[in-house]
Amino acid sequence: MGLPGEKALVYPPRPELLPAAHIPSLSHYQRMYQRSVEAPHEFWGDIAKEFYWKSQPTGPFLNYNFDVTKGKIFIEWMKGATTNICYNVLDRNVNEKKLGDKIAFYWEGNEPGDSAKITYRELLHKVCQFANVLRSQGLKKGDRVSIYLPMIVELAVAMLACARIGALHSIVFAGFSADSLCERILDCSCSLLITADAFYRGDKLVNLKQIADEAIQKCVDKGFSLKKCIVVKHLCREEVGAAGTCSKSPPQKKLCQEVQEKKTESSKRLRPKTPWNPAIDMWWHELMSGASTECEPEWCDAEDGLFILYTSGSTGKPKGVLHTTGGYMIFAATSFKYVFDYQPEDVYWCTADIGWITGHSYITYGPLANGATGVLFEGVPTYPDVGRMWSVVDKYKVTKFYTAPTAIRMLMKYGEEPVKKHSRKSLKVLGTVGEPINPEAWLWYHRVVGEERCPIVDTFWQTETGGHMLTPLPAATPTKPGSATFPFFGVVPAILNDSGQELEGEAEGFLVFKQPWPGIMRTVYGKHQQFETIYFQKFPGYYLTGDGCRRDKDGYYWITGRIDDMLNVSGHLLSTAEVESALVEHPAVAEAAVVSHPHPLKGECLYCFVTLREGYELSQDLTDELKKQGSNRQMLGSRQGEHR
Ligand code: WT7
Repeated sequence: MGLPGEKALVYPPRPELLPAAHIPSLSHYQRMYQRSVEAPHEFWGDIAKEFYWKSQPTGPFLNYNFDVTKGKIFIEWMKGATTNICYNVLDRNVNEKKLGDKIAFYWEGNEPGDSAKITYRELLHKVCQFANVLRSQGLKKGDRVSIYLPMIVELAVAMLACARIGALHSIVFAGFSADSLCERILDCSCSLLITADAFYRGDKLVNLKQIADEAIQKCVDKGFSLKKCIVVKHLCREEVGAAGTCSKSPPQKKLCQEVQEKKTESSKRLRPKTPWNPAIDMWWHELMSGASTECEPEWCDAEDGLFILYTSGSTGKPKGVLHTTGGYMIFAATSFKYVFDYQPEDVYWCTADIGWITGHSYITYGPLANGATGVLFEGVPTYPDVGRMWSVVDKYKVTKFYTAPTAIRMLMKYGEEPVKKHSRKSLKVLGTVGEPINPEAWLWYHRVVGEERCPIVDTFWQTETGGHMLTPLPAATPTKPGSATFPFFGVVPAILNDSGQELEGEAEGFLVFKQPWPGIMRTVYGKHQQFETIYFQKFPGYYLTGDGCRRDKDGYYWITGRIDDMLNVSGHLLSTAEVESALVEHPAVAEAAVVSHPHPLKGECLYCFVTLREGYELSQDLTDELKKQGSNRQMLGSRQGEHR
């Protein structure tokens, strides 16, 4: 983070980007920005015209209350207008923009050489088929569907199919534990779960269906029985035959054989076959075979729910962030277009998992809304070696690349050689997200990865904001390493002191936003009171981010980190309360206190203090057990090197 008084390095935008850039200068940005905040209905109204609407808003374009002292908090953009986001990102591109033959996704499997591609038309057909499957299972508008899948094409298909029929998807990152999945299924009482048999992440096999089954059992124990579960046969895909969706390439086959072979070994983790409960389980490929490739979308109100996505909360329980249809659509699409300076010939790669908001907005909805070609990557940056990212960049000639500071810091450890072994000459813009990027990592990213040729966009935002809030624009903003620079269109930041006064000029304090942007969350699912308390109570009239922030003398914003009980480990937001409550569930623990500590690679790490109950002694075994217990609520063990 930049410190006051530090000699500021400023990197001007690259001239070679200028001729084609959407926003070729700072003054151009400033003009557009002014209009976006002074006349949001006009600014976003013009953008909305590029999308397909079945009908127009029946009331005001924007209506809201941000002030708890004046009544209920609400935000409505284009209420009464009807549309369908799936129609806009697929049918509109295929039919109106004639992009049917354009690649929507290159799928790159965990195993190098295991790959597939899918065009916009093919994706539309798959999505229609699966939307028909969902309808035939009785799913309808407003129902919730949990999706617990690895990074495979079916994940995008499943989420878009939900959107097509107006069902809300609740995607749960496939690295989460059975406890976390159970908690998320219960919170929004899902009618259906979509999962897969198993997958490899690096050299680690994850028996996803087994974990899903554990979660379903935990739900039963808590009095909730899930009705249906659809299972993608992914790892042993070649058994599926013609109805399967992806390639049946040799490496995948090899993996499958390996699994078959390992299955005969005594290892307990490798079960002989996918556990199956005929009362609720159904194979994806069986349901898909014969399903029609045409499906009338459900026309939804702009303010109808699109998805729920859980994020850690400082109270200890994850919050179901609810995003709605119309505003989210235009915000994800517009931020993608400008922040990456999207051009039709781009190949864009965001290394996040779709299970995080970054993947929702900047793998699926934003890029597809622009008709972009994206890379969907199943693996990890270190498998089979630490040059994997750059080999994928070269393989697909990636032009715009988006990753997390934790991944950059991890790769930095291995030096320049694994990067330089690959050409990377296709790269034009490099993005980062998830946590503050230290200037050292920023400079390495810029100098080594981008060879000083690629502007860096350090994008600050949150699950709750739906899209970018503070960010440079590649051809317009002079950047400073470690600063997320200036607000995106429609975003009005302010810095408040403890007593809620707005600070002008150079200042440090609470980062808040003063007026709604189209992508802002609308509520915490089923808990509107919580939504008001967490985000609007402390400073009436403002949306509270929970982050500290400094504005320097040039007006640049620098995020200084969380100022609540949240911490950021490798770009993953955790709450101390969440880990504390997991620890005290252990019979040996009487009390627990968790604090954050700086960590050179992960940004932050946890220090956990526990008081043991009578009769327990601290041993290595108990320590290991407690470590497991603490992380069980979230992830399956250590996820170093993974990122969103
Ligand atoms: C928190 C939100 C937005 C997608 C990933 C995170 C931190 C995020 C930055 C950045 C400094 C950042 C903040 C924020 N954060 N991006 N560029 N610079 N901090 O989503 O899990 O909702 O976490 O991540 O602390 O509040 P999330």
